[in-house]
Amino acid sequence: MPKKLAFYLLTFAVSFVALAQTKPILPYKNPKLSVEERVKDLISRMTIEEKAGQLNQLNGGEFTGPAKNDPGQMAKMKQVKEGKVGSMLNVTGVVETSAIQKIAMEESRLGIPMLFALDVIHGYSTIFPIPLAEACSWDLPAIEKNSSIAAKEAAAAGIHWTFAPMCDIGNDIRWGRVMEGAGEDPYYGGLVAASRVRGFQGKLDDDAHLLACIKHFAGYGAVESGREYNLTDFSRPALWNKYLPPYKAAVDAGAATLMNGFNVLDGVPVSGSSFLINDILKARWGFKGLLVSDWGSFSEMISWGHAEDDKDAAMKALNAGSMMDMQSQTVIRFLPELVKEGKVSMQAVDEAVMRTLEIKFRLGLFDQPYKFSNPEREKKMLFTQENRSIARDAARKSIVLLKNEKQTLPILPTVKKLALIGAFADSKDDMFDFWIAKGESKNAVSVLEGIKAGFEPNAVVSFSKGYNIDGTTSEILIKEAVEKASLAEVILVNIGISGKMAGEDRALANPAIPEAQIQLLKALQKTGKPIVAIVTSGRPLILTEVQPLVSSIVQCWILGTETGSAIADVLSGQFNPSGKTVMTFPYAVGQIPVYYNHFKTGRPLPSEPDGDMSWKSRYRDIPNEPLYPFGYGLSYTNFTYSDFKLSSSSGSKGGTLIASVNITNSGNFDGEEVVQLYIRDLAASIIRPVKELKGFQKIKLKKGEKSTVQFTLTDNEFSFFNADGMTKLEPGRFHIFVGTDSKNTQKLDFDLK
Ligand code: NOJ
Repeated sequence: MPKKLAFYLLTFAVSFVALAQTKPILPYKNPKLSVEERVKDLISRMTIEEKAGQLNQLNGGEFTGPAKNDPGQMAKMKQVKEGKVGSMLNVTGVVETSAIQKIAMEESRLGIPMLFALDVIHGYSTIFPIPLAEACSWDLPAIEKNSSIAAKEAAAAGIHWTFAPMCDIGNDIRWGRVMEGAGEDPYYGGLVAASRVRGFQGKLDDDAHLLACIKHFAGYGAVESGREYNLTDFSRPALWNKYLPPYKAAVDAGAATLMNGFNVLDGVPVSGSSFLINDILKARWGFKGLLVSDWGSFSEMISWGHAEDDKDAAMKALNAGSMMDMQSQTVIRFLPELVKEGKVSMQAVDEAVMRTLEIKFRLGLFDQPYKFSNPEREKKMLFTQENRSIARDAARKSIVLLKNEKQTLPILPTVKKLALIGAFADSKDDMFDFWIAKGESKNAVSVLEGIKAGFEPNAVVSFSKGYNIDGTTSEILIKEAVEKASLAEVILVNIGISGKMAGEDRALANPAIPEAQIQLLKALQKTGKPIVAIVTSGRPLILTEVQPLVSSIVQCWILGTETGSAIADVLSGQFNPSGKTVMTFPYAVGQIPVYYNHFKTGRPLPSEPDGDMSWKSRYRDIPNEPLYPFGYGLSYTNFTYSDFKLSSSSGSKGGTLIASVNITNSGNFDGEEVVQLYIRDLAASIIRPVKELKGFQKIKLKKGEKSTVQFTLTDNEFSFFNADGMTKLEPGRFHIFVGTDSKNTQKLDFDLK
């Protein structure tokens, strides 16, 4: 045989053997097939234990809940190898996440990638204002942008999934978690939630976004007496009209995942509420994404007195439509038995597993499990100058000017001596809350640093503590503060509470300014100098005692990395404040819950000041009115409202009503105004709130400039839900209001025929 022919034959034989030995690519690993086909194939190969594994989420890092029953890190890695963990939370960083991903991909039987989740609430390493503060900007594009940057940073650190936005309505400042939401209004809350979902998720087709998670479904904001993990008990009209709309808006914006709350609905813990999950979320809203429990909320059904044991809890949760079990391990332990005993159907299990796998496919993790794991990118993307400057802008837009007498603010360049007082101004440890992912307060700009950088060398800034962080003070501290204040032209006092008092497990029975700080303010007031109170807190506090002691109040919340710079921008007038509060500031703790969209009662107070007050719904010791209403916030300029008009004083269903108003910047600065539109339905089959926000526009006007703002109202704005969740549009009279906040409004009537 010629040599050449022999060579060809040999080559052919070798390739043939090699080809015969190559395993065909499994359908679920084949990127050419559709996600549906791949998921179906994979599910058909899974054991019931592996299916339970996909519904098991374990903590892999810092604990953000009780460590009870935690199996420990070694045992968890063993479970990952056995395909018994579908997702981990709190593992951060490319090195850590990819090490675990490698085990899941290479050592588990089916090589199903892991989902890494983290509470990226207001930034990953560049920290933005807390969501409550950010919402006070009424700047939806900015809110979307902030979330997109948080996502970009977290995704660069190996994270796939954030547990945000929180869509719970916040009516109670005792509840520490109001910091995580967008305040008390269902309509505005929905707009903010949708913007945050868009910002976090983008189109989910790249490696720079995160899965968003709407939480805590549903109604968790109604916890009784503001105490975390407490009972919720509200009516069906409140469920449909007040609590559900923000979650619904976030579902409509395409949120991929959703989290059960810790609360109960109609006496059933929500993780086990088939009405909420099967009937509303899935059937009515058509939600196709993944549902995860809150930390241990499946097994907490035992403590609530709804489930007998963990097995019963798993059964109740899964049959109600819940899916992934965060940390309580009821599903991984009991699902095989429950299916065998016919207590949970394989169909329900497959649906939950399918939704989990679909998300992993959608993120591209089967084909590129390490796509979020690039160490170079991680180094480059975090805490960049660009992200910091966006955070600074977000922070100054979040500040709400509550009081400004005698034009104390802005502080003009003619002021040469400032005294900054307040231990919080120089305590980086107290600047941040708990939900800061990898943010480090040591890298943040403190109030003291920001004010020095903003005012020196033109003015001299002295500093003294005035009180201790622990809420006490002393004669020496007050004396030193008064001495320094006496030498200054304007006194700046940072009052409030530590950032550490904001967030989960931070309920306060007395959310007020500590007594020591009031004592300090009283001493400073005696100097006769103008005092600016810089309030830092993760929630509105009771400021009733502060109000008469100071000339100006600047509500600064928890502003993140650029706190001090943003505050200096506002105090110096480099930035004209435009924030408006999205939570009512109560007059006293006893008023709580107090919110603008309350009901009138059968015995409201008379509207005329000299009206008869007897036998009316009122307090004998304090006013009914809050200190600052929803939507309130001042500017350094003034806005005048005129020519409020409706396109018609009556109309029929299916029509369109245009409300218009002229706004003039009649003050001395360029500025921004949030023009608000409210309605009231005067008589309906179900009582309606005294005011409901139905629209707003944030406009920028130069000094002297005038603009016409228009709002369009349709059936949608005039409708509400009845107790059964049916949409009702009822003829009758409506008040239409426009104004600068929920209290200061002008009113016209409209009759719906
Ligand atoms: C419990 C909290 O309620 C929830 O908001 C958070 O996302 C999880 N823990 C995970 O940390």
